[in-house]
Amino acid sequence: MTATPSTPQPWSQRFESALHPAIVQFNASIGFDIELIEYDLTGSQAHAQMLAQVGIISAEEGEQLVRGLEQIRQEYRAGEFKPGLDAEDVHFAVERRLTQLIGDAGKKLHTARSRNDQVGTDIRLYLRDQIRQIQAQLAAFQTVLLDLAQRHVETLIPGYTHLQRAQPVSLAHHLLAYFEMAQRDRQRLEEIYTRVNISPLGSGALAGTPHPIDRHYSARLLHFDAVYANSLDGVSDRDFAIEFLAASSLIVMHLSRLSEEVILWASQEFGFVSLKDACATGSSIMPQKKNPDVPELVRGKTGRVFGHLQALLVLMKGLPLAYNKDLQEDKEALFDSVRTVKACLEAMTILISEGLSFRTERLAQAVNEDFSNATDVADYLASKGVPFREAYNIVGSVVKTCLAQGILLKDLSLESWQSFHPVFEADIFTTIEPRQVVAARKSYGGTGFEQVRNQLEAAKQRLTQPLKA
Ligand code: ARG
Repeated sequence: MTATPSTPQPWSQRFESALHPAIVQFNASIGFDIELIEYDLTGSQAHAQMLAQVGIISAEEGEQLVRGLEQIRQEYRAGEFKPGLDAEDVHFAVERRLTQLIGDAGKKLHTARSRNDQVGTDIRLYLRDQIRQIQAQLAAFQTVLLDLAQRHVETLIPGYTHLQRAQPVSLAHHLLAYFEMAQRDRQRLEEIYTRVNISPLGSGALAGTPHPIDRHYSARLLHFDAVYANSLDGVSDRDFAIEFLAASSLIVMHLSRLSEEVILWASQEFGFVSLKDACATGSSIMPQKKNPDVPELVRGKTGRVFGHLQALLVLMKGLPLAYNKDLQEDKEALFDSVRTVKACLEAMTILISEGLSFRTERLAQAVNEDFSNATDVADYLASKGVPFREAYNIVGSVVKTCLAQGILLKDLSLESWQSFHPVFEADIFTTIEPRQVVAARKSYGGTGFEQVRNQLEAAKQRLTQPLKA
């Protein structure tokens, strides 16, 4: 890209001398807002059709504009349209090319419009598309979670609180917790979509326009659900972008939590999963290493999205109405977040579907080597009429005795059990088996196998149902 303007800026009539070359560079957004070009073309076509519809331009001029814009689309797709820095931004670049292509009619396109309502329209059209794509990626991620869960209903894994062994759970249950998070993420985007999908087009620079435009007409052509009721708000609102970044932050936060678990699970200390070669990398110096780069990168990239959310909040907090050039800074934050969220979702979907396998022998051993069945002994006593708090204290002394002897609950004889409380009978041995501990949690939403099977079925249904905004 060249730093010296080859053509004067469309606004330069009013100026005495040219823009400083460094300022041309500083001011330009074409380097990144070219990403909006297809949306800019679509928005401009709708605007042109509206202008013709209400008689501001002739029907023929309208058609010329629409065709010219379509030609630019083809040129862009063929890699032939590469505007330089002198175009300033994608909006000027398109307008200039259009005038080259169709002559004077091209100069009429910007009637009753400003770049302020134009750029607002573009990012809304862009985000609409991105929301749909991210929702589809979330659903794909949910599908691989479901597939994996399906295979592991009866696989037990230690459940933790405070990262201390707490109670064993079904591995499917654990995985389905992430299904729920992704479901909320999809739902949240659906709600945000309704606020993205409002047309600012026709707000003009800030105050509307004296031309007899029909904002509802162009909004309908662009499939917007509504139009902004206030032109000042229309050109300067970025709430929908902040909401999108907040939703994106939650998505990557969820992926980052799962990443953290996979990283722990893949460590020698846990040894719950092994990473397949397709998703792990080696060290340049330590030949024995197999590193969990994929979840580490997801965890690491999360910070960028949080940062962009913060950037946009700070960008907006001191802005007087209406459009200010500060708003040009919204784009890179959005683009980078979108790219990051999509890349992380894709990588995690691959990781879950084909990048790891659970080491079931290690898991079986893990749930058998601790006191995570202690609550069940207390529940056993409580079900036989011992007040829970008293039962809790009894089990406390049982655990203490076992620890002193270096044994587990399953190693106690019936006589030892009965020395702690006479209600203990032989069924205590099955009660404390990890499988039984899990199976017993039949409460709605709990980890009992029957519950988990129901949850799996329900999850499959929910995945196919349309989301309500
Ligand atoms: N490139 C600008 C942006 O991204 C377009 C709007 C410019 N409007 C203006 N009044 N200078 O926000």
